[in-house]
Amino acid sequence: MAFLTNEEINNIRSSVSIVDVISDYIPLTKKGKNYFGVCPFHDDHAPSMSVSETKQIYKCFSCGATGNVFNFIMDYEHVSFMEAVKMVASKAGIDVVFDNYKEQPKKNNDIYEIYELSNKLYQNNINTSSGTKALEYLKNRSIDEDVIKEFGIGLSLKKHDVLTNLLTKKGYTKEQQLKSGLVIENDYGFQDIYYDRIMFPLWDMFGKVVGFSGRRYDDVKEYKYINTKETDIFKKGEILYNYHRAKDEARRKNQVIIMEGFMDVIRAYTIGVKNVVATMGTAVTKENASNIKRMAKEVILCFDGDSAGSKATFACINELSKIGVIPKIVRLPNDLDPDDYIKKYGKEAFISMLDNPINVMDFKLRYLKEGKDLTSSIDMASYVNQIISELNNLDDDVLREITIKKISEEASLDEDFIRSHLEKKEVKEIVTKKVETKKYNKYEKAEQNLLYYMLRDPEVIKLYNKKITYMPTMKYRFLAREISYFYKQFDYINIADLLSFLKDDPDMIKTIGEIDFLDLKEEHSKEEINDYINVIYEYNVNREIEKLKEQMKKETNPLVKAELGSKIMNLRIRREEYD
Ligand code: CTP
Ligand code: MN
Repeated sequence: MAFLTNEEINNIRSSVSIVDVISDYIPLTKKGKNYFGVCPFHDDHAPSMSVSETKQIYKCFSCGATGNVFNFIMDYEHVSFMEAVKMVASKAGIDVVFDNYKEQPKKNNDIYEIYELSNKLYQNNINTSSGTKALEYLKNRSIDEDVIKEFGIGLSLKKHDVLTNLLTKKGYTKEQQLKSGLVIENDYGFQDIYYDRIMFPLWDMFGKVVGFSGRRYDDVKEYKYINTKETDIFKKGEILYNYHRAKDEARRKNQVIIMEGFMDVIRAYTIGVKNVVATMGTAVTKENASNIKRMAKEVILCFDGDSAGSKATFACINELSKIGVIPKIVRLPNDLDPDDYIKKYGKEAFISMLDNPINVMDFKLRYLKEGKDLTSSIDMASYVNQIISELNNLDDDVLREITIKKISEEASLDEDFIRSHLEKKEVKEIVTKKVETKKYNKYEKAEQNLLYYMLRDPEVIKLYNKKITYMPTMKYRFLAREISYFYKQFDYINIADLLSFLKDDPDMIKTIGEIDFLDLKEEHSKEEINDYINVIYEYNVNREIEKLKEQMKKETNPLVKAELGSKIMNLRIRREEYD
C-alpha cells in the first residue's frame, strides 16, 4: 500500500474507541453520557476534559483542546498525523504498510533533507583518519563508541567547504544551503559554518535532526559551543534535548529529569538514567514547560551546582509553576554539573541524589537567603516578603502550611500574621473560571448555530449551500467551506472523520471545538435553520448594498449612478421579503 485513503484512515479510526485509547493516558470516569478526565493539555486539577463515546471526540471545557483519537495522540505524543494513525492501527491490530516518504513534512522538506545528509557526513567524518583527535577527546571524557553512535556524534572537518560542496553536488541550491543555516556567504564565497568541531545533532520533538551544536575539542573556553542559528525548522526555545528518546522511559517511570547541558544528558544516559532532557543552557520557555508537563507527573530539576545553575533552577520553577507543575530539586555540591558529578562520585551516588530531591519551597528558602544577612532586619523583612509572594504563587496547600511554619520560626513571626498576608486562594480560582464569556452578535450566533447543525445533518449543509454565499466571520466561513467540501466528496458528515480529513490544521480544529462546545439540542426544525440562514443572508445582502453604495459615491456618470441606485433598491426589497 503506497499511502492510505481517507476511507482507510476512517476505518482505522473507527476500529478503536477513543475512550479506550485516552484511558491509556489519563484516567477517565463516566458521568452521564460522557467520560471525564483531567486535561493533559493545560494546567488543571479538575476533570475538564470530556470524551464522547458517541461522537468519538474529546474536548476540554477549560482550554478548548478538541479532536479525535488521532489529534489526541499527536498532541500527547508529539507525533505526526501519520504516526498517530500508525499507532492507532497497531493498537487495533490492523496491519498496514506505510510509505515513509509520505510522513515527511512537505514544508521545508529540503532543509530536513540537508540536515539528514549533513548528519551522515559528520558521523562519517569522525571515523576517518581526521577523527582521531576528536575520538581521543571523547574517550577522555569517557564517551565510548556506543554512546557516540546512540547520540549521533560526529565531526566537521578542518576545511571550509566540505558540506557546501556535498550539498551542491546533491543538487541543493545556494539559497537552500543558506536557508539551512549550515552554510554562509562571505568574502570567500560560500562556506560551511562548522569548522573542526565535534558535532552533536539536535532533534525536534519528532526525533528529526533540525540543528547542531558544535563543540571545540581543544579545551579553550571561548566559543565552546556553536549552535545552529534559528531556521524555519529550528526554534531554540522549543528544543528539549533528547525529548524523543526520553519520553517513553519518562512516561514509564512517571518521572522526568531536567538538566542544563546536553553533555549531562549523555552522561546520565551512560549510567542508565534515560528519562532525562536538557534545556540547552537557555531559560526554560513556556513551550518547554508544557512539554515537560506532558512527559511525566514528577519533574526533577538537576541543574549545574554553581550559582548560575541555582538561578536557572529558580527561573525554571517559576515557569513550571505557571502551568501547575511543582518540580522537585536536586542541588549538586561544589559547583559540579551532573556530568562532572557522575564522573567524580559515580552512578550510585548520583542516583541517590536523584532519590532525595528537596521540595521547591526548601529550595526557595535557601535561594532567597543567598546574599542576605538575616541578622539585619531590613534583609529579613525583604526575605519574608519574597517568601510570602512565593507562597501566593504556590499551588500546594500542604507545602504552603509547612513553609509557613518554617518561616515563622526563622523570622520569629506569628504564623497567623504570615497567613494574614497571603492572598485567599479560593477566590482566585473562581475568577479564572469566569473570564472567558465572550458576547457574540446576532450574525456570529447564527453562523455558530448553523455550523453546529451542518456538522451533524447533511440537509443543513444542502440548505446552506443553496442560499448562502458567504459567512461573515472568516474562521466560520473556512469551516463551512470544509464541511461542504467534505460532504461533497464523501456524501456523509461526521465530526470525527472531518477531523481526520483536516489532519493537523490547528485553527480549523479549534473552530470545530468552539462550535461543538455550544452543546445545542440535537433536534432542530427546518424553520429554525431557515432563521439562521436568513440572518446570514441579510448580512450578505447588506454587504452587497454597502459595496454598491461605495461604487455609487465614486461614480460620475448619472446613468450608471441611477442603475446602481435601482440595484440597491432591489436588494433592499429582497431583504424585506426575507424578514
Ligand atoms: N551552551 C552553549 N554555548 C556555550 C556554552 C553552553 O550553547 N558557549 C549551552 C549548551 O547547549 C550546553 C549548555 O549550554 O549544553 C550548558 O552549558 P555548560 O554547562 O557550559 O555545558 P556543559 O554541559 O558543561 O558542557 P561541557 O561539559 O562540554 O563543557
Ligand atoms: Mn560539563
